[in-house]
Amino acid sequence: MIFLGIETSCDETAASVVKDGTIILSNVVASSQKLHIKSGGIIPEIAAREQIKCLIPVMRKSLEQCNLKIENLDCLAVTIGPGLIGSLLVGVETAKTLAYLFGKPLVPIDHLIAHFYANWLNPVPNLPQQTPSFPAIGLVASGGHSDLVLLEDHAHFRWLGGTRDDAAGEAFDKIARLLGLPYPGGPAIARLVATGATKAAELGGSHKSRVRLPRPLLNDASFDFSFSGLKTAVLREVESFKKKGEFNEAVIYELAHEVQESITDVLVKKTIRAAQKYKVKSVLLGGGVSANERLREKFRFSTDQARYTLNIPPPNLCTDNAAVVAAAAYFNFKPRSWKKIDVDPGLSLSTKRDDKSLSRTYN
Ligand code: KG4
Ligand code: ZN
Repeated sequence: MIFLGIETSCDETAASVVKDGTIILSNVVASSQKLHIKSGGIIPEIAAREQIKCLIPVMRKSLEQCNLKIENLDCLAVTIGPGLIGSLLVGVETAKTLAYLFGKPLVPIDHLIAHFYANWLNPVPNLPQQTPSFPAIGLVASGGHSDLVLLEDHAHFRWLGGTRDDAAGEAFDKIARLLGLPYPGGPAIARLVATGATKAAELGGSHKSRVRLPRPLLNDASFDFSFSGLKTAVLREVESFKKKGEFNEAVIYELAHEVQESITDVLVKKTIRAAQKYKVKSVLLGGGVSANERLREKFRFSTDQARYTLNIPPPNLCTDNAAVVAAAAYFNFKPRSWKKIDVDPGLSLSTKRDDKSLSRTYN
């Protein structure tokens, strides 16, 4: 079955054609990221305006790349939330129009669940792929979310915990700004740390950081995260170094290094603890932050030690794309009439903490 996925929840405009939920026939992503660099964060209005301009050309390109027409598709799938309302509306209203005009089934998709389906996509056609086994612990760490989920099978998951304030990617982005690094902050911090070791040594800094930042909620029994305190701790360090006239490249490197260590320590430790508690077979990563090489390295090491299968998508499938939307729709094939589909910007994996039945059926 051939699915067209459409994704416009944030600053990307993406369309992808996927066969049988695993084989990527095309995967086109346009981003308005450059337009947000000056502001250091996404301006929703600008993102949505760009998506209005880009979506039709992006879908056309995606279909052309695999010599298909909308008529040839078996199904359409679109992200309905969570995300920016204006951005989501562009994708959802376009998908509904196409479903109506061409009489195609349309599957509404939760963006966060979609991130996990990067692990079912085969990035290298014709090469055998390690399909994730259930039950699995999924960590989705992105710009807007940090959630730990127990995936029992394709249709059932339990939300175990999430961020109480800033998401991991948001923390990277905000802290990068404090350090004078560009948006998006995650890749900027990762790049600086990867290339900065030698430079810092030359400038009189050392790989052993002079700063030690907190690992928020690391030893807390819950599966929640909290990264806003880390941001405040960095702000204090920046102010203190500035006061002493010592806020230089070496210090920026040391802080970036320690920030990356702190965020990755917490994400890895809590995920492994959840895997142990729920006796799962595999650990799945998803979301932009899972493109972080240090995080991937730590996960490889700790899942190997604890003997869990680890599934990490290639970096281009960690960040927002529409192939994951098509894959999620294939494995959770629950089409709904276009008349009953609407955007849900606040869509959340979480259920109330005092809710006795934490289990939720997808769709
Ligand atoms: O999943 P995503 O593309 O969009 C959302 O759904 O939010 O994630 C974007 C986030 C940004 O906060 C960005 O800084 C972070 O993912 N990110 C990274 C890396 N690449 C993207 N964070 C750390 N290291 C990276 N290599
Ligand atoms: Zn995302």
